[in-house]
Amino acid sequence: MTDKKLYSLTAVFDKPDDIINAAEKVSDSGYTKYDINTPYPVHGLDGAMKLPPSKLGYSALVLGLSGTFAAVLMIYFMSVYDYPIVIGGKPFFALPAFVPIMFEITVLAASIGTVLTMLFFFFKFPNNSHPLLETDYMKLVSVDKYGVSIQADDPKFNEDEISKLYNDLGASKILPVYWDLEEVLYEHKIVEPKFLGMLALTAIIVSGTVYFSLNKLMFMEPFSWMMEQEKLSPQQKSEFFSDGYSMRPPVEGAIARGDLPYQFADKPEMAAKILSNPLVSSEENLLLGKTKYNIYCSPCHGYFGEGDSRLRGQFPNPPSLHSQKLRDWTDGRIYHVIEVGQNVMPAYNTQMTNNEKWATILYIRALQRSLNAKESDL
Ligand code: HEC
Repeated sequence: MTDKKLYSLTAVFDKPDDIINAAEKVSDSGYTKYDINTPYPVHGLDGAMKLPPSKLGYSALVLGLSGTFAAVLMIYFMSVYDYPIVIGGKPFFALPAFVPIMFEITVLAASIGTVLTMLFFFFKFPNNSHPLLETDYMKLVSVDKYGVSIQADDPKFNEDEISKLYNDLGASKILPVYWDLEEVLYEHKIVEPKFLGMLALTAIIVSGTVYFSLNKLMFMEPFSWMMEQEKLSPQQKSEFFSDGYSMRPPVEGAIARGDLPYQFADKPEMAAKILSNPLVSSEENLLLGKTKYNIYCSPCHGYFGEGDSRLRGQFPNPPSLHSQKLRDWTDGRIYHVIEVGQNVMPAYNTQMTNNEKWATILYIRALQRSLNAKESDL
């Protein structure tokens, strides 16, 4: 490995103005394979080098658009096919609501994709070495000097001409840079084992720290004080109250907000006499009554109130709702049964609103009428 192969001829300048001037002259002289190295971004350098705009923008555009497209597809699939949920009566595919997610995924795809594109296509990762690294030239230009490096594979490359150009431009040093043959002959693996190892180590440290803080640290003092304070859980026994219960019943006579207690719980005759149906037998009310009857009553009483239960003997069949007794009952009396139940029939006071109860009674009346029509109905 004695035979050294020239990589580039470099020159070092002392002032930023000199490097701008040098960049202009080098690009004007027709060199294409060269680079400028400075310790910090120098304004106007890309103009002087006549660099074309970066192509990275195109990849960012494509990646961003595919992010948007993927987001729309994903949301469309989830909210129209996979798990449609009516939210506030809006259509399943409500585009305005999806905009934030589309935006987020666009940015995510564009940014992560751009970094990866840069690493793999522009910086040629995993090849992370470069002939200029660890040279005297690089040491100077990463501290306080400005350098230009014209590569040996430039079609116009000629050592003497370039040296002369450098001298004319006022270079303080001219340094040849050679390929590190060991480096050139080294076969790159897909990913460096050192890099993978570091990645694994980072993962272990990060997940370990997260596990420790969420599962251990948060249960240590002083974080545990909130959990360990004196309190009674709902089903817990209490030494404090004489009845031994920790759950306290509401004070006697308390009424829940928006709730009026049913006054005739044990007085069906009073209910029959005093309560009357506030609804008229309109199409709208009958439809509501039919819906609610079919939901709440028909499993036992049958769709037409004939007591033909669908529960196949798992629950006693109720009597027909078309009996003379029921036809003679007032609406208030039927309301009473819905409100408090009757023997094995459970109460429906909490499942249905008042309106629904009365509408259901209207529907039962219509059912009764359908089997026992009067002459006047014709
Ligand atoms: C779980 C089954 C079941 C459901 C659901 C049910 N009932 Fe009943 N219902 C019964 C049974 C059983 C009886 C008979 C109770 C008895 O032995 O007095 C009955 C009795 C009645 C009676 C009195 C009948 C009579 O001749 O004494 C009325 C009125 C009534 N139900 C209306 C309704 C209405 C209205 C609904 C819907 C809100 C409803 N039921 C829902 C099982 C049910």
